Amino acid sequence: MLIRKIKDMKQITKRLKKEGKTIGFVPTMGYLHEGHISLIRYSKKDNDITVVSIFVNPIQFGKNEDLDRYPRDLERDVEICGKEGVDYVFYPSADEMYPEGFSTYVEVEGITQRLCGTFRSGHFKGVTTVVAKLFNIVQPDKAYFGEKDYQQLKVIQKMVRDLNIDVEVIGCPLIREKDGLALSSRNKYLTPEERKSALSISRALFRAKQMFESGEKDPSKVIDEVKRIISSQPLVKEIQYVEVVDPEELTPKKKLEKGDVVAVAVFVGNTRLIDNIKL
Ligand code: PAF
Repeated sequence: MLIRKIKDMKQITKRLKKEGKTIGFVPTMGYLHEGHISLIRYSKKDNDITVVSIFVNPIQFGKNEDLDRYPRDLERDVEICGKEGVDYVFYPSADEMYPEGFSTYVEVEGITQRLCGTFRSGHFKGVTTVVAKLFNIVQPDKAYFGEKDYQQLKVIQKMVRDLNIDVEVIGCPLIREKDGLALSSRNKYLTPEERKSALSISRALFRAKQMFESGEKDPSKVIDEVKRIISSQPLVKEIQYVEVVDPEELTPKKKLEKGDVVAVAVFVGNTRLIDNIKL
C-alpha cells in the first residue's frame, strides 16, 4: 500500500505497535535495484511487517550534485515492492518533510568528516536528519542498510547509539553485477564505455583483497595498486580517494588487518561511484 502522508504513516505505525507487530524498515531514494531487493528480503525474513520508504532527500545533495537528474520511477518501484511482499511504501513529499521554517538537523561528528565527508560537505548531515525523521515516523524495530554505502551505515549506527534511538541498524552485504560492478541507482548514468571503465573499480578492490591474502600488510602498497588499476582506464576522470580504514572508526590504517575496509570514490565521466571491500 502506498502511503503519502506522514500523518497516515504514523497512524499505521501506531496501530501495528498496538497489535504487537514487529516492523522492518528499508529507507531508499527509489529507483530500486537488486541491492534494495536484498534489503527488503532480509526485512521480510526478520519482521512481521516491512515498510519501504522512497524519498529523494534534497538536503543530502550538494549544490552541484545530481538532485535534479537523480533517477525516479515510482510506478516501477511500487510494482517491485508489491512483488516482494512489502506491506507499506512510504512516499512523502519534500514539502511535507521539510515545510517552511524547518530548522532542526542531526549531525554526527568525527566519522562524517572522513572519506566521502571530505568531498560532500553537508551530505551526512542531510542523511542523518532524514533517517532520524523517518525512524520517528516509521518506528521500526530493525532498519536495513547496504554495506555499499559503508560510511553511511556506520554514521547511522553511531547516530542511533548516541541518541538512544530504539532501532537495530543492520548492515547487509553489498550486491554486485555479474561483472563486478557494485549496484547503484547511479549506474544508470553510465554510458556503455563508461561502464567498461567503471569495472576497474571492483577489479582493483578484488586485487587489494588478494594482495592482503597473500601477506601484504602495507596499506600504501595496496592503495597504490588500486589507484594504478583504476587510473589506467580512459574514462576515469578523477579518483577522489582510495583509503584503507578501520571498519568502525573509519580512520586510516598504518598496518593492514583482517576486517579493514578498502574504500574508494571515483568519477567515471560525470558520475561519482563509490565502492568498498572488507579485507
Ligand atoms: O542510501 C540512501 O538511499 C539514502 O542515503 C537514505 C539512507 C535513504 C537516506 O536518504
